Amino acid sequence: MYQHRAITEDLYWIGGNDRRLALFENVYPIPRGVSYNAYLLMDEKTVLLDTVDKSVSDVFLENLEHLLGERQLDYVIVNHMEPDHCAALGQVLHRYPEAVVVCTQKALDMIGQFFGAFPALRSQTVKEGDTLTTGRHTLSFVMAPMVHWPEVMVTYDAADKILFSADAFGTFGALGGNLFADEIPFESQWLEDARRYYTNIVGKYGPQVQALLKKAASLEIQMLCPLHGPIWRENIGWFLDKYMHWSSYTPEESAVMIAYGSVYGNTEAAAFLLASRLAERGVRNVLLYDVSVTHPSLLVAEAFRCSHLIFASATYNAGIFPCMETLLLELKAHSLKNRTIGLLDNGTWAATAGNQMRTVLESMQNMTILEPVIHIKSALTEAQLPELDALADAVAASL
Ligand SMILES: Cc1cc2nc3c(=O)[nH]c(=O)nc-3n(C[C@H](O)[C@H](O)[C@H](O)COP(=O)(O)O)c2cc1C
Ligand SMILES: [Fe+2]
Ligand SMILES: [Fe+2]
Repeated sequence: MYQHRAITEDLYWIGGNDRRLALFENVYPIPRGVSYNAYLLMDEKTVLLDTVDKSVSDVFLENLEHLLGERQLDYVIVNHMEPDHCAALGQVLHRYPEAVVVCTQKALDMIGQFFGAFPALRSQTVKEGDTLTTGRHTLSFVMAPMVHWPEVMVTYDAADKILFSADAFGTFGALGGNLFADEIPFESQWLEDARRYYTNIVGKYGPQVQALLKKAASLEIQMLCPLHGPIWRENIGWFLDKYMHWSSYTPEESAVMIAYGSVYGNTEAAAFLLASRLAERGVRNVLLYDVSVTHPSLLVAEAFRCSHLIFASATYNAGIFPCMETLLLELKAHSLKNRTIGLLDNGTWAATAGNQMRTVLESMQNMTILEPVIHIKSALTEAQLPELDALADAVAASL
């Protein structure tokens, strides 16, 4: 049974939701599921904007077929050629061979790579500023390379002032009837997933997202239609502001995240004592995470949110505790910068984790490492409490 929804008089959401998938990209846990949004514009010409992942292709094809009825499909705009948005493209082109694919040259090359040669493929490659008039609507194309992949563009509808923003402004979380962000408690129940989606999926490409935001600023936007998650028609400025912070690696909040890696609990105990010392200094919302328990994607998101990051790690086979090493390498891979750092390590015979963590962090941009760095020999001693106080003072003073 079709599940399409009207957005405006001639624009429809025709995507699908997956609540069964455990790991998005086979990496990121999505306990709240994910939506794959595709849009159909029923103007004098009919225009499909992107398709969907293979997990929801059946319902998507039903939606498309039902809405088109006897009409033919004139255009398929491919904003992003990643399989979560184009797995169903092959089936669409087999069913509607007359449709003209509108995309960048890079996307066209990728169509060949993913689907093999389509001898009958009708295509029209577009560049920055090119337009397509479909009747009442004139669509213009804005290049957005590396907002998430190199072939990406976004599409702007000047008639209804809608930006089809590809992966930008998306979020994890399946849609549950409400299609619009203003119909759901986005800030309290969705923002964390939106941050985790942005930082982990697109976080590395801050400069490219900034470039897109700059171009978007010159457009009058009344609606944002992303490829995942709800559609934005109110409070767009609030969400843009989040993107400004995330893409410029500016902390969203003056806040402390403490992440620890511990085998027997001694490093954990020291991390907890440090958290308590901060609380005693009036620092609120200190967050303490065990890197072996909390998925790194959530810690990456928290690191983008918080101004201060404290890493406490046992030394493990002359290295950093494995889950902690993974976290630090993830933060580096996502180009995190501009943070204030505290360090604590533990070693029973030759502690090296502290210096090794410092080396990773110093290879990232604008990371300020606070003194003192605390070195524990198996377990924290009474004699080290002043050091812990000194680190807590340094953190509190720099917040
Ligand atoms: C498998 C394993 C490897 C370790 N490797 C080292 C090491 O190379 N150098 C060192 O000083 N301590 C090493 N340790 C000791 C820990 O760094 C740490 O002192 C001990 O686990 C106590 O801290 P915890 O209670 O937070 O786990 C190792 C511990 C384990 C379990
Ligand atoms: Fe993508
Ligand atoms: Fe995507």
